Amino acid sequence: MYEQESFSLLNEILVDLEIEFKQEDLRHFYTRLGANFYTIYSLFKLLYADHADFSIHARHLVETMARQYINRPKALKKLDIDREKDHNWFLSQQWIGMALYCDGFANDLKDLKSKLHYFQELGINLVHIMPILKCPLDECDGGYAISDFRKIDEKIGTLEDVTTLANEMRTQEMALVMDVVVNHTSYEHEWAQRARDGEKKYQDYFYLFDNREIPDMFEKNMPEIFPEIAPGNFTWDEQMEKWVMTVFNNYQWDLNYNNPEVFIEMLDIILFWANQGADIVRLDAVAFLWKKVGSTCQNEREAHLILQLMKDCCQVTAPGTLFIAEAIVMPVEIVKYFGEDAVNAKECEIAYNATLMALIWDAVATKNTKLLYQGIKSLPDKLERATWLNYIRCHDDIGLGFDDADIIAVGYEPIAHRRFLFDYYTGVYGDSIAKGMPFGRNNKTGDARISGSLASLIGLQKGLEDSNEADIENAIQHILLLHSIIMSFGGIPLLYYGDEIGTINDNTYLDDVSKANDSRWAHRPKIDWDKAENRNKPGTVEYRIFNPLKHLISVRKEITCFADFNNRVLHNVPNTHLLVFSRFDIHKHGHVLVVGNFDSSPQYLDMDTLNKTAFNQYGPMIDLISKCKPTMFKNQLVIPPFHYYWLVDSERYR
Ligand code: GLC
Repeated sequence: MYEQESFSLLNEILVDLEIEFKQEDLRHFYTRLGANFYTIYSLFKLLYADHADFSIHARHLVETMARQYINRPKALKKLDIDREKDHNWFLSQQWIGMALYCDGFANDLKDLKSKLHYFQELGINLVHIMPILKCPLDECDGGYAISDFRKIDEKIGTLEDVTTLANEMRTQEMALVMDVVVNHTSYEHEWAQRARDGEKKYQDYFYLFDNREIPDMFEKNMPEIFPEIAPGNFTWDEQMEKWVMTVFNNYQWDLNYNNPEVFIEMLDIILFWANQGADIVRLDAVAFLWKKVGSTCQNEREAHLILQLMKDCCQVTAPGTLFIAEAIVMPVEIVKYFGEDAVNAKECEIAYNATLMALIWDAVATKNTKLLYQGIKSLPDKLERATWLNYIRCHDDIGLGFDDADIIAVGYEPIAHRRFLFDYYTGVYGDSIAKGMPFGRNNKTGDARISGSLASLIGLQKGLEDSNEADIENAIQHILLLHSIIMSFGGIPLLYYGDEIGTINDNTYLDDVSKANDSRWAHRPKIDWDKAENRNKPGTVEYRIFNPLKHLISVRKEITCFADFNNRVLHNVPNTHLLVFSRFDIHKHGHVLVVGNFDSSPQYLDMDTLNKTAFNQYGPMIDLISKCKPTMFKNQLVIPPFHYYWLVDSERYR
C-alpha cells in the first residue's frame, strides 16, 4: 500500500537510518519495513496522533526495530527466511508443548538443558519456560512481577544460559516459548523506582493519581482479579503520595500504553527476547492493556490495536517469531486476539483455549458433555493461520468462564451450576473425589475459581490416599481421556509439567508466608525425579500415565488430519456422555473420528446418528491408538468408561 503521508515520513526516517547504520546490511529489514510501514504508521497514529512529538516517537519506533534487527543473530535471520517460506509451520500436528517452571522442573537453566532428553523421550518439542526474570524476593506472583525485563533471576542462571539452551533446543528441533509480561512491572523495576523518585518521565509510564477521584470512577466498572489477596485496582504509594493502578497484585504496577514510549520500550523487550532465541513469545495478560474510565478495562479496542502494532513491528524485525495471546476472557472475546484479518489486522498467531479447558472440567464433574458440546459449537470461527493452545491445566487457577447463554441452553441455571462445579472441585459436594482448593473467591460477586493439580482434581490423589485400585485406574483413564481430546481437537496440545507422571497437589506452599495466601502454588510442583524414574517401572502410576501419553503423542504426530486448518466437524449425538468429532485431512481427504466417553460406565454410540457429510464409513473401523477394531454390536460402537478412540476406516488405513 502506497500512501503519501506515511511514505514521506518513512523517507525522512530512512535518511537518518542510512547515516546511522551505514555499515549494516539492512536489505531484508527495508523490504519488510516498506511492506508494513503504512499499517504501522496508521496504527501508531490511531493510538498516538494526539502526541505533540508524534513524528519523533515514530522515528524512535523505527530506529528501535532497526537496532534489534542489527542485533538479531545470523542463525535467527536465516530461520526468519525459512519460516517466511513455510509460514504455516506451527499449524502442523507435529508440535506438542509443555509448560513448566524452570526451578520446578529442574534446578536451573543449566540443569534444564541437561534434561532435554526427557522431552525427547515423551515427544515434547515445544517448551514454555515460565518467567525466569528478576522479581521482588517475596512478591513475585510466580514470576509475573518483573523487576528487570532483561535480567535473569540469579538462582536460575544467566542470559548466556538462555541463549545456550535456545541454541541447543534449535539443534534438537524444539521450539522455545518465553514470556513477556507486557501489562505491568513490579514496584521494584527501575521505571517504578524512578517514578517514585519523582521523575516525571517515568511517572508517565504508569497510571498515577493524586487522589481517589479518578480511581473511584474506574473502580465502578473494573472487576477485581485477585479479590482476596489484592482487593481493588489501586494501591497507595507512600513515597510518591499517589495512587498507583495495580490491577493484579498491589506490587504489580500497570503500564500506561497511552504513552508511546511505553509501547516502544515493550516492543524493544519483545524483540530482545526474540533475539535471545524465543521462537514464540507469550504475551501475558493482553486483555488488560488499555484502560478507560467507564469500562471494565479489559478487551478494549485499543488493546487490540496495540497487539496489531506489536505484531506488525515484530514482522519487520523478527518475522519468524510468533505471539501467544494469554487472554483468559469470555469465549467471544478470546478469538479476537487472533486479530480481525490475517493480513491487515493480525494480532497473535496462537491463543490459550481457556474456553475448551473450562468446558472439559465441566464434563469431568458432570460426567456428561452437554455444555462441552454446546460451548465448542458456540466457539466463534478463528482466522486462518491461527491456532489454539489446548490445555487441561496450567500454572493458574481454573476460572469457570463459560458463556451464560450456553449454560442456559443446556438446561442449567448459571449461578447454581457454577456453584456446583466449585463445590465439586473443592471436595465439598456430595461424594466428590476432587481435591482442589478455592482461589479468588469474591464475596461481592459470588465469583470463585479453583486451584489444584490435574491428578488431585480428577481423583487420583484420593484414589492413592484410599489405596483404592479401581479409583486409581479410573483416574488414570480419565487423565488419558482428557489428553486424547487436547491432542486431537485442533491446535497445539500444551501439557503441564508433572501431569505426565500424575503429580498431586504440593501443599508445602502453606509453610511459606509469601505464598500461603495463593493456592495456585499447590499446582506448581518441584518434580521428584526419583518418582519420575518410575515411568520405567511397569505397574506404577507414573508408568501407567507416561507411557500411554507418549504413545498418544507419537500417534498424533503421524496423523495429518490433526494439523489445524479449521478442519473439525462436531457431531451432535444423542448420547450426552460422549464427545464426538471428525478431523479431516485437507490434502488427502482422509478423516479420523474422535470419540471420548466422559462417564464412569460403558456407553454406546449409534453410528447412524453421526453427521453423514462429516463421517462416511466405507469399511470396518480401526482405532489408531490401540491398532485394534473397537467393540461393535451391529451399528453400535461400545466405548468403555473414560475411554477414547481415534477411529479410521480400516480399508483406507494400511
Ligand atoms: C497472567 C499469569 C498469572 C499472573 C497474571 C498477572 O494471567 O498467567 O499467573 O498472575 O498474569 O501477571
